[in-house]
Amino acid sequence: MPLLEIKNLRTFFRTKRGIVKAVNDVSYSLEPGKTLGIVGESGSGKSVSAMSILRLLDENGYIESGEIHFEDRELTKLSMDELYHIRGNAISVIFQEPMTSLNPVFTVERQLSEPFIIHQGMNKKQARENALKMLYDVQIPNPEAVIRQYPHQLSGGMRQRVMIAMALACRPKILIADEPTTALDVTIQAQILRLMNELQEEKGTSIIFITHDLGVINEMADDVAVMYCGQVVEKAGARIIFDDCRMSHPYTEGLMFSIPRIDSVHEKIEPIPGVVPHPLALPKGCKFAPRCKYCTRKCMEEEPALTDAGNGQLIRCFYPEKEVRRSAEHKKITVNQ
Ligand SMILES: Nc1ncnc2c1ncn2[C@@H]1O[C@H](COP(=O)(O)OP(=O)(O)OP(=O)(O)O)[C@@H](O)[C@H]1O
Ligand code: SF4
Ligand SMILES: [Mg+2]
Repeated sequence: MPLLEIKNLRTFFRTKRGIVKAVNDVSYSLEPGKTLGIVGESGSGKSVSAMSILRLLDENGYIESGEIHFEDRELTKLSMDELYHIRGNAISVIFQEPMTSLNPVFTVERQLSEPFIIHQGMNKKQARENALKMLYDVQIPNPEAVIRQYPHQLSGGMRQRVMIAMALACRPKILIADEPTTALDVTIQAQILRLMNELQEEKGTSIIFITHDLGVINEMADDVAVMYCGQVVEKAGARIIFDDCRMSHPYTEGLMFSIPRIDSVHEKIEPIPGVVPHPLALPKGCKFAPRCKYCTRKCMEEEPALTDAGNGQLIRCFYPEKEVRRSAEHKKITVNQ
C-alpha cells in the first residue's frame, strides 16, 4: 500500500491575466522506503505538485480539487495548523536554495535544535546533542565548530548538508527533495546524492526527488513520473523508463535524446525543439503537440488520457508504441515534419 497517494490534484494560481492551472489532474503515489523521481522541464508543475502536499503555496495559489492521502489522513482537508505539525515531523522538505529554509540570523545550533524542541518536546541540552548527531550523520567535517556558525559562514555544499540534517532531524517518513543539488558542483552533488541514499537505507525514509536531470533520476529513483504542462505524461518504474523499452511518451523520449549518457544506445544529442507553452495559452489537444515530431491532426484536436500500457506503465499519448510512431505509415499522417 502506498505511503502517500495523490489523486486527481488540481492546483491553480489566481493572476491578473487569468487562472494559471499549474497542476491539472495529477495523480501519483509513493511507496514506503522508495524514491519517486519527478522530472520535466522548467514550469511543468513539479514543485507545485509536491508543495501542494504541505500546502506550501504562494498566497495566490490554492488546491482547486483532488485528494492527498497520507497514512490515514486526507491532507487537503486539514487546517494549516494541523499541516504545520506534519511539516518537519512526518514530512520534510529540502529546497533547491538552502537559504530559503535557513535563517541567516540564527546559528546552525539554534535552527537544527528547533525541530527537536518543537516536535519532540526535548530540552535545549538534549536538542543540542541530537543536532550534533545529525551533523555527524550528514558527514559534516568538524560538527562542534559548524554548530556554532551562521549559515553565511558555510560553503554551499555545507549549507545543503545542514538543510538535509534539518529535514531529517525528526526522522520523517517522507522527504521531499526539490532540486536539492542543482546549485552545487558535480563532486558535491554526487556526495550529497550518495548521502541521501545511505540515509534512506538506514532510516527507511521515502523520498520524492524533483529534478530536470534524467541522469540524477536514473541514479536515485525507483519510480518515475514525467511531467509536462501541469500533467503527468508518463509514469513507470525507473527500469522501464531507462531500459529502452517498447513503449514511451514522445516527451520522455525527447528528454532521453537530449542528455549525454555513457550507457545510451543513442549516439546523438538532440534537444527537444520549441519551448514549453505559456500556462495561459496551452494548446487545445495534446499539450506536447506543437513540439512533437509524431504529432497528427488528431493530436491537435483531442487530448489523450493517461492510459495503462501494461507493466504498470502509464502513458498520455495516442501512439505510445515506438515502432508504430516511427513507421513510414505514421510519418504519412504527421504534421510537424
Ligand atoms: N505564484 C504563482 N503565480 C502564478 N503562477 C505560478 C505561481 N507559482 C508557480 N506558477 C506557475 O506554475 C507553473 C508550474 O510551476 P512549478 O514551479 O511547479 O514548475 P517546476 O516544474 O517546478 O519548474 P522548475 O524546474 O523551474 O522549478 C509554472 O507555469 C509557473 O509559472
Ligand atoms: S498524442 Fe500526439 S502530439 Fe501528443 S505526444 Fe502523442 S504523438 Fe505526440
Ligand atoms: Mg521547481
